[in-house]
Amino acid sequence: MTLDQVNLVQQSFAKVAPISETAAGLFYDRLFEIAPSVRAMFPSDMTEQRRKLMATLAIVVNGLGNLETILPAASALATRHVSYGAKAEHYPVVGAALLWTLEKGLGDAWTPEVAEAWTAAYGTLSDFMIHQAYGRPQAAE
Ligand code: HEM
Repeated sequence: MTLDQVNLVQQSFAKVAPISETAAGLFYDRLFEIAPSVRAMFPSDMTEQRRKLMATLAIVVNGLGNLETILPAASALATRHVSYGAKAEHYPVVGAALLWTLEKGLGDAWTPEVAEAWTAAYGTLSDFMIHQAYGRPQAAE
């Protein structure tokens, strides 16, 4: 990611922060619409889950300019997701639901540059998480 892209992601995320509960609701509705099979992996009451997702996204977005500060937490998050039943192939679906949500939430502020910056950010995070969870152990490389 370029520094400009980090800035675009941070500035656009600040715009959805005031509606984070609504955004998280939109995100899970969209996720369960495009991937109904993952619904059963989540609790029936999603209140707490919505809050946790947005809090974690805020930490990741804040840390994008200084990746090494968030990688240990992202690695632990990836490992926990294995026990939730998440598979590597779920990550692109979650990414699609996230980008769709941001597009809805940002309206006119969802420019091609912002879309590209978020695609790069999610790609970086999900590639890292997939590698941590399902890739070869780094020590063996
Ligand atoms: C970068 C992508 C993702 C982020 C930032 C993220 C974030 C989170 C967070 C913050 C939690 C709360 C629990 C915890 O911290 O361990 C959580 C739980 C969960 N996530 Fe994700 N997640 C991501 C990708 C995925 C994917 C690809 C799946 C696959 C369907 C998934 C399914 C779940 C499930 C099933 C739970 C647990 C619900 C429960 O039992 O309480 N997540 N996620």
